[in-house]
Amino acid sequence: MRIEVENLYFSYAGKREKNKKYAVDGVSLTIEEGDFFGIIGQTGSGKSTFVQHLNGLLKASDGRGRIKIGEYDLGDKKTDYKALRSKVGMVFQYPEHQLFAETVKADVSFGVKNFYPEKSESEIESIVKTAIETVGLDYEKIAEKSPFELSGGQKRRVAIAGVIAPRPEVLVLDEPAAGLDPEGKADFLNLLKKLHADFVKTIIIVSHDMDLVAEYCNKVAVFKGGKIVKSGTPKEVFSDEKAIYGCGLDLPVTEYLIKRLKERGIDVESGTTVAEFVSAVKEKFGGER
Ligand SMILES: Nc1ncnc2c1ncn2[C@@H]1O[C@H](COP(=O)(O)OP(=O)(O)OP(=O)(O)O)[C@@H](O)[C@H]1O
Ligand SMILES: [Mg+2]
Repeated sequence: MRIEVENLYFSYAGKREKNKKYAVDGVSLTIEEGDFFGIIGQTGSGKSTFVQHLNGLLKASDGRGRIKIGEYDLGDKKTDYKALRSKVGMVFQYPEHQLFAETVKADVSFGVKNFYPEKSESEIESIVKTAIETVGLDYEKIAEKSPFELSGGQKRRVAIAGVIAPRPEVLVLDEPAAGLDPEGKADFLNLLKKLHADFVKTIIIVSHDMDLVAEYCNKVAVFKGGKIVKSGTPKEVFSDEKAIYGCGLDLPVTEYLIKRLKERGIDVESGTTVAEFVSAVKEKFGGER
């Protein structure tokens, strides 16, 4: 499903309030099917407000703006939001805080049952099993446990299993790696990579972590004051050092090194991933690592 957002406005202020401040202030953006799309920007720039429009949790203020997600036109009164939400899964910051059921199995099956009430118990069980195994947990060991007995990392995986179980095509994650230790973060990012490779078509990730975006995303949009001030490939976006610093952001370490080397007269032609950077440096200087 392709996502097309055109001139979207959203304000938390009341309808009649004058001189409203817009948390999303005229945003247009296209996200193609298959993208691993990064959304970056300083705190308060409108990232979370924006992504909450993608499954209709928030709606354009005063009808200003248009969102099309595949065949769903979100301005249309007849839009089936339940069907849309089965296609666009949303994972909020600290998703483990949303676990509530007595067992892992009950928690993960909640969304599936809600979206597909016609499915039999055995069909649901098999869907839940697939989701739990996809997030790297052992179904037999964990299904009947209380989610509250699990480790932090396991809880987060269970929460994600619940969102992916109905097989959404698009997965939106708002700061999903927040609060994880470096090892937990690396595991978690590998999981996202795996999900993108064989479970969900499109991933949209809101993150403060420029290295993560530089490493995983094929497209990035930079928010500032509710507007998109820059978008494109990570290379296009992060090469514009002035714009990045102007938005109160940092460069990813790869692009930072490329720039500092260039100032010293050393041109390293490289993309923004670590592998690309290492291979460009090897090419430049020769030798083995
Ligand atoms: N529930 C709310 N009620 C009123 N104003 C809000 C609400 N949520 C956010 N805002 C305001 O809307 C603007 C955008 O906030 P938003 O949470 O979308 O930013 P963000 O980019 O996600 O920030 P962060 O990186 O801190 O998560 C900010 O000015 C914020 O204060
Ligand atoms: Mg936010």
